[in-house]
Amino acid sequence: MLAAVACGGAPQRSGDVALYLDESQPLEKRVADALARMTLEEKVALLHAQSKFSSAGVPRLGIPEVWCTDGPHGIRPEVLWDEWDQAGWTNDSCTAFPALTCLAATWNPEMSALYGRSIGEEARYRGKDVLLGPGVNIYRTPLNGRNFEYMGEDPYLSSRMVVPYVQGVQQNGVAACVKHFAVNNQEVQRHKVDVVLDDRALNEIYLPAFRAAVQQGGAWAIMGAYNKYKGEHCCHNRYLLNDILKRNWGFDGVVISDWGGVHDTREAIFNGLDMEFGTWTDGLNWGATNAYDNYYLARPYLELLRKGEVGTEELDDKASRVLRLIFRTSMNSRKPFGSLCSPEHNAAARRIAGEGMVLLRNEGGVLPVDLSKVKTIAVVGENAVKMMTVGGGSSSLKVKHECTPLEGIRAAVGDRAGVIYERGYVGDVTGDYNGVVTGQDLSEKRSARALIDDAVAAARRADAVIFIGGLNKSDHQDSEGADRLQLGLPYGQDEVIEALAAANSNLAVVLVSGNAVAMPWVERVPAVLQAWYSGSEAGNALADVVFGAVNPSGKLPFTFPARLEDCGAHAAGEYPGDGERVVYRDGIFVGYRWAEKENIKPLFAFGHGLSYTTFAYGGVESDRTSLTASGKLRVRVDVTNTGSREGAEAVQLYIGDEESSLPRPVKELKGFEKVRLAPGETRTVTFDITPDMLGYYDDAKGAWVVEPGEFTAYVGAASDDIRGRVVFTLK
Ligand code: BGC
Repeated sequence: MLAAVACGGAPQRSGDVALYLDESQPLEKRVADALARMTLEEKVALLHAQSKFSSAGVPRLGIPEVWCTDGPHGIRPEVLWDEWDQAGWTNDSCTAFPALTCLAATWNPEMSALYGRSIGEEARYRGKDVLLGPGVNIYRTPLNGRNFEYMGEDPYLSSRMVVPYVQGVQQNGVAACVKHFAVNNQEVQRHKVDVVLDDRALNEIYLPAFRAAVQQGGAWAIMGAYNKYKGEHCCHNRYLLNDILKRNWGFDGVVISDWGGVHDTREAIFNGLDMEFGTWTDGLNWGATNAYDNYYLARPYLELLRKGEVGTEELDDKASRVLRLIFRTSMNSRKPFGSLCSPEHNAAARRIAGEGMVLLRNEGGVLPVDLSKVKTIAVVGENAVKMMTVGGGSSSLKVKHECTPLEGIRAAVGDRAGVIYERGYVGDVTGDYNGVVTGQDLSEKRSARALIDDAVAAARRADAVIFIGGLNKSDHQDSEGADRLQLGLPYGQDEVIEALAAANSNLAVVLVSGNAVAMPWVERVPAVLQAWYSGSEAGNALADVVFGAVNPSGKLPFTFPARLEDCGAHAAGEYPGDGERVVYRDGIFVGYRWAEKENIKPLFAFGHGLSYTTFAYGGVESDRTSLTASGKLRVRVDVTNTGSREGAEAVQLYIGDEESSLPRPVKELKGFEKVRLAPGETRTVTFDITPDMLGYYDDAKGAWVVEPGEFTAYVGAASDDIRGRVVFTLK
């Protein structure tokens, strides 16, 4: 039975039900009621961690703690209360879902919804209230070690993909904590670098996905970034948090600090932070029993309040936000129970992984490998056998199972062909993160030369060769805390690939990575497949694509440049800055926007991705030639599957502004739709263009501006594969 509460105090035994406990009451009334009963100390206690991943509730009022978990690809295993070491639980293994780059590459919001719902169920089952993810920082440079946790280079694509993820998670009574707000686009000097960019780039490129997550997705939490912006750390940044997020966007959730991202009590009080986690104040966080009392938003805040040096307005706002979070999550008695490692989650991981893989190149139909025609398949490369769910930083997982590519290939082939494996090169033989160990023995005694010779010998014996390499989750690869050092493949893989290409022309290169890599050998390799980090079902999903059970339909969510200098961040920018500041001189020209402005041909363009079937586009037509301020213009195109197998195509709409007061990209993604077509089938794809899609952010005015004039709508299969266009005028 629910207890009643004496005004201003703890629940009493009587017939009345406390308003804040009554879920039929409006949320804001409950928040106000709970707040009115709390002491100053109780309010402050809500605002900072009490352990590595939890914060206190209000025990006296029966208000529970808040439990957070990483994020964003699966539910992180339990660590000790106040240590990063494993707690040693045996029931905290999860399903690893594909990395967010893979999800973005599906270009399918339905996959985002499935992902969000599934990972939310796992979080819920594990008793978590806040999932620390998804990440939507823009892919500005292929060197950023954390790109694999994000959704690519385009603000429109990431906005469309983040919304269903957030909604899916939150259906479970678990808050999505969208991170890292904002302009956290490199790991070099991530705790102190001050990012300098113009308001236009901020608003057009770096903020839209966060805004969509808040305003369309209804995100209940946002994580501040480590870096600075306008000289203030993003976890307590007046401009980003107070002005943009809370005032302009109307965000009513909590701002959670990144772990150790808080640096100052007064800034934390006044500049929009609500909850402080992971602070790394010297000596305080190491075994001291009162470490958490010393957090910036703990005793130091309480002392300022008690001395009357700061008022309670900010305190009440922060505590209200945390109460709102608690009512939405841990105190929501109607939320579902969730599930962990269910067959459905496994199937979801496999489906998303298969749909996100991108067939970059396929000359002569090398893929899919036809098992009725090959007797021996040589699989070469460390990433064929290396578990990838362990490592990479805070997104590292402890999985119930992980199917490696070689296992997936062997399972799919069965006894229909022989599969021989050769290592080819040695990359990273370690396999642990914070006490989670893969248990794999990847030690190797052969020299680099012998490994190549053995791989070449295997390739000569085989009818088909599949090289599986790329990056991994160790430092300076795809990993948190450091950036990559080069665009090229590490560990001498280029040499291995060249040798394999010379030995056997029936070669497919599969890249497991969260980033673009250089491919000096690309003309000598007939097939290249981008397979990403694809989670628990990585191997099965890869085999689905390699042998054709799944027809690839992924498209690149970021540009693969031929050279590092071809990216705006490296040509015009000052990556990684001077240690104190990094200036984004590339402005709005990120990714394909840069390549198209500079007329640079990328290795593989944004939006590119092939299929085992072919699609023909009919003429692109519009229902009118001009658009009024309140009007709508409809563009349509017929897309036909002209091949002999079913397939899906992400049809893309880009818009270019032909006359504008400010420089604009040649064209920008403004719509996409994925259509699944049987052989011979035709479907009409339509896009509605409205004036709000045509604007740019004018920094001088501090506002979005839509200028009349001529625009071009481009429809195509990739940013560099436009199949038709229509010109229209905005009146
Ligand atoms: C990362 C966050 C993560 C947090 C908690 C930080 O180092 O930047 O993304 O959620 O740790 O593990």
